[in-house]
Amino acid sequence: LNRGITMSVACDWLITDIRIASLTDNGAPYGQILDGVIAIRGDALLYVGEAAGAPIFAARQVLNGGQRWATPGLVDCHTHLIFGGNRAAEFEQRLQGIDYQQIARQGGGINSTVNATRAASETELLSSAMARAQRLLAEGVTTFEVKSGYGLDVANEVKMLRVGEQLAHQLPATVCRTFLGAHALPAEFKDSADAYIDHVCAEMIPLIAEQGLATAVDVFCESIGFTPAQCERVFVQAKAHGLAIKAHVEQLSDLKGAVLAAKYGALSVDHLEYLAPEDVPVLKEHGAIAVILPAAYYFLHETCKPPIDALRAQGVKMAVATDLNPGTAPMASILLAMNQACVLFGLTPEESLRGATHHGALALGLKKKGVLAAGMDADLLLWDVSHPAELAYAINFHQPRYIWQAGIQRLASGAIIEPAALSQKESV
Ligand code: NIG
Ligand code: FE
Repeated sequence: LNRGITMSVACDWLITDIRIASLTDNGAPYGQILDGVIAIRGDALLYVGEAAGAPIFAARQVLNGGQRWATPGLVDCHTHLIFGGNRAAEFEQRLQGIDYQQIARQGGGINSTVNATRAASETELLSSAMARAQRLLAEGVTTFEVKSGYGLDVANEVKMLRVGEQLAHQLPATVCRTFLGAHALPAEFKDSADAYIDHVCAEMIPLIAEQGLATAVDVFCESIGFTPAQCERVFVQAKAHGLAIKAHVEQLSDLKGAVLAAKYGALSVDHLEYLAPEDVPVLKEHGAIAVILPAAYYFLHETCKPPIDALRAQGVKMAVATDLNPGTAPMASILLAMNQACVLFGLTPEESLRGATHHGALALGLKKKGVLAAGMDADLLLWDVSHPAELAYAINFHQPRYIWQAGIQRLASGAIIEPAALSQKESV
């Protein structure tokens, strides 16, 4: 025992001289800690707090943060970034006044991406998805979700989810996979939606659950998607197989899908443009996260906004995500989604940052991500901003200066920084 010598605490990283937007509920805006220090051990945060009163650390590597702001790694909790082809031609049609539902009813929309996705090999899908995911990673996304839903048969849904599995293996990010078999009615089942839902429930969900290809199911509850009764059958089967529930609801009309999904214990209910304010208490009661997707609203020229005031008044947690997909949200920027959530829907910059960190993590059922506090996962960013509101305020101004994911430092490109090379550079 080193009696008389101050004991120090071992850690892998010590980041000093930073301001911290911890997003904890410490009573300060952004959960801020102004004269902050962060210590990382392994893949977890060991200390997040004031420099004054911090233990003495023996760190393998030290970084002086130069008064930069630290935030949690960003979480994009709703994407469809695995897909074949693109829908630029439909974008042109929509600009000429043909609407999204009309295109879908004519066999385009989601089904045109289904054709392109079925035609693509797993390798092709992986390389295009990888490029899109890298755009997210460059902005500081450390966790994102991917949905299937452009395969709509066993082989192609499995193919999409395998691509998701590969993204998880190959990228320095946490990648959650969601099965969205009930996304649209494939051509083979024309006029027999119930038979397709039978197929989703009897064949797809058991296989996907058994092979561990997804941790959640999602549905598109809409006139051009599936009825609440059909979605309910998917929820029942998902629960029976231990899968979490998410749902695209009230995007284009009010079918009461959010209330239904919340009653089934959904992690999140997503879109919500047509959610009736009187249904908001049901979301609160069941603890569903409201996922706000302003890009789809923007691209579809929607005019009906989600009931943000009611959600806020009832204390429903709001997440913000890109919805990155080829139809309604060809947009690979979580920071732009945060900006849109503020400008289009009136979220505050703080709500939008919480939405793309803490609440996004909760929408994925991840309880150790999205806030900076001891014991949480060491996913964090250092930004060259003078206030965290700048992240939602300015478009295409910001990229994190330093990124750690699971305690490992990486570049915006996704490349891992080798500790040896780094300590040389930082010691100059
Ligand atoms: O979240 N609404 C359903 N699904 C996607 C759109 C998918 C597509 O158009 O390809 C969405 O908006
Ligand atoms: Fe979506």
